[in-house]
Amino acid sequence: MDRASRQTLLTGDCLDLIATLEVGSVDVVVTSPPYNLDLRYSSYEDRVPEEKYLDFLFAVATALRRVLKPEGSIFLNVSGSSSRPWLPFELIVRLRPLFVLQNHISWIKSIATPDDAVGHYKPVGGKRFLNHAHEHIFHLTLTGAVPLDRLAIGVPFKDKSNIARRGHARDLRCRGNTWFIPYETVRSRTQKWNHPGTFPVNLPRWCIRLHGQPDALVLDPFVGTGTTLVAAHREGARGIGMDMDPAYVAIARERLDAEMLTDMAGDLAPIGAGAPRNHTMTR
Ligand SMILES: C[S@@+](CC[C@H](N)C(=O)[O-])C[C@H]1O[C@@H](n2cnc3c(N)ncnc32)[C@H](O)[C@@H]1O
Repeated sequence: MDRASRQTLLTGDCLDLIATLEVGSVDVVVTSPPYNLDLRYSSYEDRVPEEKYLDFLFAVATALRRVLKPEGSIFLNVSGSSSRPWLPFELIVRLRPLFVLQNHISWIKSIATPDDAVGHYKPVGGKRFLNHAHEHIFHLTLTGAVPLDRLAIGVPFKDKSNIARRGHARDLRCRGNTWFIPYETVRSRTQKWNHPGTFPVNLPRWCIRLHGQPDALVLDPFVGTGTTLVAAHREGARGIGMDMDPAYVAIARERLDAEMLTDMAGDLAPIGAGAPRNHTMTR
């Protein structure tokens, strides 16, 4: 099987499409469903009554449970907004009968240190709310005990004396559960493929690496512009991406084709390598 054919794009409702996959066949799910925050998608209506929204995602999660391998991982990226802050928490509580919440990762889109600020976010007006600069990545598993390759996305020790003192084999430590992953610089909506809710390619890359399964089968039931499949390709993994909107699937296909041309597959450079310096645009 060549690299191109290792990525599969399917158009349709993910509930129907997931049902066509084999039981226990998927290693890693990385996905960002619609947030029900009234974003402007080309066809999907991103505002339904909250109960209906939660019921829908419960149904998708139930379908994913069927196809996940016993040692599989689901990385579910969601966010609330300043005015609707409960939504991600309502969702994760709703999913409790299905999965163990093995890790809760904060995706940091922008960070202010004492004398610098890096990254970008959509500014929030008024006096009530702080700018919203992070999102959630819920790491869900069937047992809560799925082993991870923590050093695959590790960072070098700041204090090198810790390496010998604490008996580490190499200069790498666990990155922890706050992941700074800024957006790449873009100057217009077109450069974001006219899609209102993409994530940066390093987000699914880090998830796939952390799960640490060679030749993993990665699934994104809400693949949008194909970011997860681009990540799967770069990580040398197999991928299945689904989206109900043919226009987004066409964009995903174009992105994958372009990827094949520049071919970054197997580009297992240190995880921070290539991180953009300037960052604009948020989801
Ligand atoms: C937040 S976006 C995902 C964006 C993606 N992570 C990216 O980087 O491009 C959610 C996507 O879910 C799709 N979608 C909504 N309902 C769906 C359904 N029932 N089945 C499949 N896709 C659906 C929308 O068309 C939208 O592209």
